[in-house]
Amino acid sequence: MPAAPFIIIAIDGGAASGKSSSSKILAERFNLLHVDTGSFYRHLTAELLARQVAASDPDALQAALGAIQLTTRLDGRSACMLIDGRPAGDEIRGAEVNAHVSHYAAIPAVRSALLAYQRGQVDVAQAHGFRGLVMEGRDIGSVIFPAADFRFFLHADPVERAKRRAAEGRQDSITERDRLDSSRKTSPLTCPVGATDIDTTDLTLEQVVNRMAEAIATKLPPA
Ligand code: CDP
Ligand code: CDP
Repeated sequence: MPAAPFIIIAIDGGAASGKSSSSKILAERFNLLHVDTGSFYRHLTAELLARQVAASDPDALQAALGAIQLTTRLDGRSACMLIDGRPAGDEIRGAEVNAHVSHYAAIPAVRSALLAYQRGQVDVAQAHGFRGLVMEGRDIGSVIFPAADFRFFLHADPVERAKRRAAEGRQDSITERDRLDSSRKTSPLTCPVGATDIDTTDLTLEQVVNRMAEAIATKLPPA
């Protein structure tokens, strides 16, 4: 019997469009490594803030980015990025990181510092026997894995997305982050040509997942 293919699924979209919730379910259903690149940008932001490295200071940024070591630990099916051996804390979902993350993420040196690490998650997935990986973020289908087997772009009405975040009990500057993420020069948030665009505004999470799973199952039977 031929070996099952290793598949890469890219899911991009704005804040609270449903990327994390849907990728976690897909990872479970198809036995994939789940990679939340937003958590990487958040963790790096928390680290730079803790080191008092300003986004406006390119020399200090280069020095800090060149000095840190990025490794991966698995948390269930999810890839957890360690900075100098340390996992992210709860502060990566807090107000300070929310307010700064898109500013750091707009800096090319910050994006390059994470580029090879993100692509390297394929090796992590293969080393742990996963059948593929599902990676979510803003530039996965456009920059990180433009040749991914499946590329989805989720979007939803901003009012609905704000309601979803509030229902989770989290305060977030969704509109401001979307504005910054969409308008930056390097790797802006955009639906790449050829990606499957899904408007999740009036869909349940289950409906969104089923739509993606139907497509994926044409290449990879559920685990
Ligand atoms: O969960 P939510 O969609 O609100 O945000 P996230 O995925 O945790 O990402 C936090 C921030 O990281 C985004 O607003 C972007 O500024 C940045 N990011 C990025 O620039 N590129 C990615 N591939 C992932 C996140
Ligand atoms: O990762 P991202 O910021 O794109 O979104 P998320 O963290 O998955 O949060 C989306 C929230 O909206 C979760 O509480 C989901 O249960 C909910 N939701 C959804 O993701 N998709 C829908 N179609 C409806 C609700």
